[in-house]
Amino acid sequence: MANTATLEIDGQRHEFPLVKGTENEVAIDIKSLRSVTNGVTTIDPGYKNTGACESAITFLDGEKGILRYRGYSIEELAEKADFLEVAYALIFGELPTKEELDKFHTDIKSKSVIDEDLKKILESFPRSAHPMGVLSSLTSALTAFNPSSVDVSSPEAMYNAIVKLLGKLPILVAWTMRRHMGLPLEYGDSSLGYIENLLKMMFQKPNEEYVQNPILVNALDKLLILHADHEQNCSTSTVRIVGSSHAGLFASISAGISALWGPLHGGANQAVLEMLEAIKEDGGDTKKYMAKAKDKADPFRLMGFGHRVYKNFDPRAKIIKVAADEVLGDLGIDDPILDIAKGLEQEALNDSYFVDRKLYPNVDFYSGIIYRGMGIPTNMFTVMFALGRLPGWIAQWREMRLRKEPIGRPRQLYVGETQRPFKDLVNR
Ligand code: SDX
Repeated sequence: MANTATLEIDGQRHEFPLVKGTENEVAIDIKSLRSVTNGVTTIDPGYKNTGACESAITFLDGEKGILRYRGYSIEELAEKADFLEVAYALIFGELPTKEELDKFHTDIKSKSVIDEDLKKILESFPRSAHPMGVLSSLTSALTAFNPSSVDVSSPEAMYNAIVKLLGKLPILVAWTMRRHMGLPLEYGDSSLGYIENLLKMMFQKPNEEYVQNPILVNALDKLLILHADHEQNCSTSTVRIVGSSHAGLFASISAGISALWGPLHGGANQAVLEMLEAIKEDGGDTKKYMAKAKDKADPFRLMGFGHRVYKNFDPRAKIIKVAADEVLGDLGIDDPILDIAKGLEQEALNDSYFVDRKLYPNVDFYSGIIYRGMGIPTNMFTVMFALGRLPGWIAQWREMRLRKEPIGRPRQLYVGETQRPFKDLVNR
């Protein structure tokens, strides 16, 4: 393959370097495009063909259904690692030694306390507020209580900001859920593991000893690993671009939480459950919903299906589908919603509309079924996605800052009015 790409504009030829990644992906480096062509730029709504950065964190191949964090396959990580190990590998690049992992967890636990005044912000929300809006607000508010976390110019300051967020976000997640459910806000227990501590904070009843259930611990650990990173998705791109202005880590993550909230992105796991519930209420009539999904006049989409990058099975969906059967079976739950989901999947996989468009179940299609089996409220599902995605967001933000990337500022193609004289009010 030549190592340049040629562009001809108005009879003038321009050469641009071709750059190749470690997985043999090829990109055209157009950094000089505007200057050598006297202002010509590109246009690519949704950035479907445009790379925003070079990254060494996550590789995915949408055609082959491959997903790797720092070179490790998602299948191996889900099977053999725990969430904190995966978080460490995503953020720092290598799987930790036991000493490194123990120190990482100790440092996180040392920051796992939240200023009591933050509860006043939480309690100012109506209990009906959507947990994603609450979590995004509380995460941004962390800056007010930890102003030193904005300047990350030293490695120590960056590390401290990171472990502070990994220590405090699980508390905010648990408190957001408990506020919504009208339960007292509980702290966990620093003698517990990261997941065990989270479950205790979420589910501890005020009048009972919390008894850990290893089924829930393993299921949640695996789910958070599967959500931990996904290269330059909508919310991660948001974290990177907000962070590129050197707004602090907490503000950048708060923006990512807001982006994830949307039903086309992380909000889909909640929308999938609501869709499956509607189908169940409708007598399990999946064909009606398949028809709605294919009807261009109907805005309804089959939630949990399709993906910007995966044009094959989402490898995470495969793992979660198996886990859903296992977890519900272990918990002794017979949830008809799971059967409806499987029926819908089978119908879609044999329907030309979906097959022609390469629409397969994505990470959100089965995850909510497990969260529901664990007793997590439906509108908390995307909050769980956010907690899983936290280490990926942090890793991507850290990579962007360490690489000293420029502030993100895309160009545009102006299609509005050309210059025209002001018209006085009396003449309009
Ligand atoms: C996540 O990017 C990431 O990595 C995201 C994520 C991560 O880990 O960060 O993987 C997490 O966000 C998963 C996606 C969750 N969202 C949903 O499940 C919502 C339902 N799916 C979609 O709305 C859609 O598939 C997207 C948003 C996921 C992808 O949209 P694209 O890539 O912009 O594709 P498109 O909208 O251009 O669709 C192509 C065609 C269109 O039909 P035609 O115009 O060609 O006739 O497929 C159709 C679409 O109408 N289509 C669907 C559909 N998804 C796409 N039709 C019905 N149901 C669907 N779900």
